Amino acid sequence: MRLLLFFSGNHSKLARAEVLSLLGGSVEHESAHLMVVDGSIDFRRLALTRFVGEVLAECDVSHLGTITPMSFKSFAVKVTRVLGAGADRDEVIRVVASRVRGKVDLKHPSAIIHVFVEGSHAFVTRELFEFRAKELACRRPQARPFFSPTSLQPQLARALINLSGAGREVLDPFCGTGGILLEACSLGLRATGVELDARVFEGCNENLWFFGCDASVFNEDFLDWRGGRFEAIVTDLPYGKSTALFGKALEDLYAKSFAKMREHSSKAVIVSNKDVSQLLACAGWRVRDVFPVYVHKTMTRFIHVCCV
Ligand SMILES: C[S@@+](CC[C@H](N)C(=O)[O-])C[C@H]1O[C@@H](n2cnc3c(N)ncnc32)[C@H](O)[C@@H]1O
Repeated sequence: MRLLLFFSGNHSKLARAEVLSLLGGSVEHESAHLMVVDGSIDFRRLALTRFVGEVLAECDVSHLGTITPMSFKSFAVKVTRVLGAGADRDEVIRVVASRVRGKVDLKHPSAIIHVFVEGSHAFVTRELFEFRAKELACRRPQARPFFSPTSLQPQLARALINLSGAGREVLDPFCGTGGILLEACSLGLRATGVELDARVFEGCNENLWFFGCDASVFNEDFLDWRGGRFEAIVTDLPYGKSTALFGKALEDLYAKSFAKMREHSSKAVIVSNKDVSQLLACAGWRVRDVFPVYVHKTMTRFIHVCCV
């Protein structure tokens, strides 16, 4: 099936990488905010894609009046002009609607026909998925019984899991209050976490219980932990600012934990507040991608996508 994916403005590079890690198929067209692919993707997992639609037709905007007629019980037409494309929105709606047989229903249509205009090119799609921030926001740090200001937002946590390509299970060796574990559970993955701080460990269990997440969490030092192998590791490292290091030197903790992570998986997505590619490479990881994500003036997160 040909699918059009439309990304949110802020993280379009990350969004593109998220799609590529879940896509079974090939990319046919790509621009800053759009991607057209031929294949299949479990789009309900996506965290950074705003819209997914099946491509029904594509042509120059001036030829929209000649697209093959379509038939639906009821329909609504929407238009998105990408990067300020100049097409007249009302005219596009009028012309496309004239090619559809069925009742116009703007409230509960059986098909939403969404036209994306990029330059003078139009993609006519049928909506399959629209990202609803609310569905993830219910698990945001402020909505959890045990709050930590350093926990990742659900949208980013979910994107990290997707970047790892995990389909069955993840390990978070520095799981804190459980932000990554919660998203893994919500995607139906088995989640395992390790957390050294006893108070944070209790809080993590409280959060997991509150959201009905059946994850296994260990109150141990990851460096001494004797767990098994996992499909992927997804973790947000302690930065040594507001998260504790328990007397360890940061570089030493990173070097030892990167080496230990290799015992547990051959795929990892690792977040830090600086680029730690060199240290990862020294521990035998191949760093496939590094994505900086600006948080605020004094904090940029770096997402490292690694394999062995
Ligand atoms: C950045 S926080 C993780 C935040 C987490 N993603 C969340 O949702 O709360 C890093 C965590 O690693 C824990 N930590 C530090 N050293 C550790 C170690 N050696 N083994 C296991 N956990 C450790 C800290 O207590 C902290 O909770």
